[in-house]
Amino acid sequence: MDALTLLHERSSMGKLTEPAPSADQLSAIYQAALRAPDHKELRPWRFIEFSGEGRERLGELFAEAEFQEDPHASDDTLNSARKKPLRAPMIIAVIAKVTPDLPKVPKIEQVISAGCAAHGILLAAHALGLGAMWRSGKYAFDPVVRKGLGLDEDDEVVAFIYLGSLAGRHKPVATHNSADFVERWD
Ligand SMILES: Cc1cc2nc3c(=O)[nH]c(=O)nc-3n(C[C@H](O)[C@H](O)[C@H](O)COP(=O)(O)O)c2cc1C
Repeated sequence: MDALTLLHERSSMGKLTEPAPSADQLSAIYQAALRAPDHKELRPWRFIEFSGEGRERLGELFAEAEFQEDPHASDDTLNSARKKPLRAPMIIAVIAKVTPDLPKVPKIEQVISAGCAAHGILLAAHALGLGAMWRSGKYAFDPVVRKGLGLDEDDEVVAFIYLGSLAGRHKPVATHNSADFVERWD
């Protein structure tokens, strides 16, 4: 697949199944992430890879977040939170590892860089014929989850990227007219 076709045709896949990406595929995926644009070469990212029972540990964090939010949450609610990470054989949490108070690289730039790294993961996964879906949801912003993942105060969970093999067909890619979004100053 040539680069422009990849950029034009990447799409998300929510239906994911085993196997998880292989070690070689993961290496290619991380190399793509690490090519994200990065002001002052801060490398403002950190990746946490969840697979196997590690997904259950993440699910426990999600359930604990629900419980802390509402100690009367039903078993259904807690179990639904527990099961969320089991929707894919692998999840990569993309964390913006933010250095605060840098005059030339404010937090927003560092978070954008980490977002670009997340996009690199999606693009590389698609190029490899894998399925991927960027999710955030309320757990990305939850204090229990943040603490459990070891975030410092200024860090942000940018993405939970669900990864695996395709268990369905990609939906047709929506096409948009660039003129609707572009203003020209000629
Ligand atoms: C920062 C961010 C967070 C997102 N969080 C979710 C989410 O929690 N749940 C969800 O269904 N889609 C989420 N999405 C959207 C999907 O990843 C996906 O981009 C969208 O469904 C459009 O599909 P496409 O990527 O094939 O165009 C998120 C996207 C971004 C950029």
